[in-house]
Amino acid sequence: MSDIQEKVKQIIEDATAKIGQADNLEKLNDVRVAFLGKKGELTAVLKGMKNVAAEERPKVGQWVNDARNQIENYMEETKKKLERAKREAQIESESIDVTLPAKKMEMGHRHPNTIALEEVERIFVGMGYEVVEGPEVEYDLYNFEKLNIPANHPAKDEQDTFYINKDIVLRTQTSPVQARIMEQGKLPIRMIAPGRVFRSDEVDATHSPSFHQIEGLVVDKNITFADLKGTLEEFARELFGPDTKTKFRPHHFPFTEPSAEVDVSCFKCGGKGCRFCKGSGWIEILGCGMVHPHVLEMCGIDPNEYTGFAFGVGLERIALLKYEIDDMRLLYENDIRFLKQF
Ligand code: DAH
Repeated sequence: MSDIQEKVKQIIEDATAKIGQADNLEKLNDVRVAFLGKKGELTAVLKGMKNVAAEERPKVGQWVNDARNQIENYMEETKKKLERAKREAQIESESIDVTLPAKKMEMGHRHPNTIALEEVERIFVGMGYEVVEGPEVEYDLYNFEKLNIPANHPAKDEQDTFYINKDIVLRTQTSPVQARIMEQGKLPIRMIAPGRVFRSDEVDATHSPSFHQIEGLVVDKNITFADLKGTLEEFARELFGPDTKTKFRPHHFPFTEPSAEVDVSCFKCGGKGCRFCKGSGWIEILGCGMVHPHVLEMCGIDPNEYTGFAFGVGLERIALLKYEIDDMRLLYENDIRFLKQF
């Protein structure tokens, strides 16, 4: 009988020693299994109960339960200690050195084309224009036919135009948006239409098979060439500075009559002549003219009642001029070191 008591005491001592030695949670669990588990030492004492006299059994049960409680309490205490130590070690190993240089978030940058476009839009929206868009894949009908560009016109050559099929092309200009807007029949019209255009050109410093234009169109009663001139002069002054002069040179476009090309005085040398303007003092920036009466007619507008003017600006050309970029290809390489400068 006291043998059993002795045995239980011994178990408590052994377990306490083993718990004290356990330096991690796995070892502690091994101790639990060895002493308290189904095949553990304390359980073995209970299993030996059958050899104990019936009146002694409650006492033995009591000893075993006390021993179990004692061992469990100590184990629980030790477990908490080990868990805390583990957590601390983890925090230690995962700590961040806040003095290290941070990983940089690379911010993008607005493209010079976008900056230039937003500038042009700001100017025309300020004059009451609406910004509209048309499709990049366009019917031959709008890209050419309704703009007075007949079937045998050189612009329609496959050398110049990307054909999807005989009726559909990648638009070669933003001018078809004029026809689309006029056809809607809502008058008066005061719009600009920026967008991508396509021509079968080889890439070089001033050419690309895909570039951007900004189309402008005004249709109303009593619109004259004076309106066109005043508008574009104001546009040039806003874009290139208040001292900018403009020059209208006669030109030909099929969908305007009369037509002109517009030069601005070189904003680099003020018109004296420099490398930038190739010594001429002038820089060409756009094409324009009075909307051809036949174009108005084809788009359902009575040319006896309404007149209009139109213009087309190359967006890249504006960006290159404004930011003094000497090679158009730089605009398409999207090198952030280049883009960041504007
Ligand atoms: N679409 C012409 C081109 O790509 C540019 C142009 C000229 C547009 C005169 C116009 C205009 O609206 O009136 O060369």
